[in-house]
Amino acid sequence: MSNYEAIILTFEGEVATIQFNRPEKKNCMSPTLHKNMVHAVEEVRAAKSKVLVITGINDTFCAGMDLELCFLEPFDDPEKMEEINKDVFGWFKAIKDFPAVTIAKVNGWCFGGGMELAGICDIAIVANESIWGLSEVNFGIFPGGGTTWSYAHNMPARKKALYYALTADTFTGAEAEALGYATKSVPLADLDAETQKVVDMLVTKGRIVLTKTKEVYEKVIWMDFPTAIDYEMAKLWELSRETNDDWVRTALASFKKREFKPGTQTYKLVNDV
Ligand code: COA
Repeated sequence: MSNYEAIILTFEGEVATIQFNRPEKKNCMSPTLHKNMVHAVEEVRAAKSKVLVITGINDTFCAGMDLELCFLEPFDDPEKMEEINKDVFGWFKAIKDFPAVTIAKVNGWCFGGGMELAGICDIAIVANESIWGLSEVNFGIFPGGGTTWSYAHNMPARKKALYYALTADTFTGAEAEALGYATKSVPLADLDAETQKVVDMLVTKGRIVLTKTKEVYEKVIWMDFPTAIDYEMAKLWELSRETNDDWVRTALASFKKREFKPGTQTYKLVNDV
């Protein structure tokens, strides 16, 4: 466990967990929390964790930016604003392009920047009871700093996306799943167990193959089909090289001996470091 003021970072085997820890302020993101995240994200990267779970303490995932400490107080101090923004966008971009699989475990209130964060994670396991909202229009701005990108990519139906951004109407975690924003929604009482189930599936896979799967997905969705084929094949040989051809030499060799069924079982790679 590392010592940070506004978050709690813990490691258990190949899994890192970050909990936002400002329960008295509904885990909204202060400049200190942003600075903590800049360092914590690098700590997790250096630890070569396979999975990073991000969640919140108590009844809240994250109530977005700290409206007082990130906007109101530093508003007339451009240098201070610039420093805060450098931290925020630094760690947001790092999470979007992170080697470990990122899971947003949404346990409660999830607003504005909290929705952006849930949206840039790879997987979101959420409580049915959690309340989500793009509240920005309520205080006179549109969802900025990547939040529009995030909601637009996670609520692909235009009429739904614009409805929530224009009205700031809230929706539940169960609705977030129906909208495509959440991977899975379960009763709050089952949230830990459901998240653990997903983590357990992920840790049986190779670390390098997980990272490459994400990297290839993120690039390929912007490519035409022939370019994607070339890129995917080039990355496949890169993966093969970095894992000493484990997939052929050990996994498929093991399949040839009928030692496992790749459709329903995972082979434990030997050269995944
Ligand atoms: N920025 C700054 N302070 C915040 C905050 C935020 N985003 N979200 C909550 N807080 C503070 C509250 O002002 C309150 O502070 P106080 O104890 O000094 O009065 C404290 O956290 C507890 O919140 P409270 O509003 O009393 O809790 P609630 O359960 O009645 O309501 C919310 C919960 C999330 C609905 C409400 O806090 C809220 O609307 N927060 C703002 C959400 C938002 O619009 N975020 C987008 C930012 S981009």
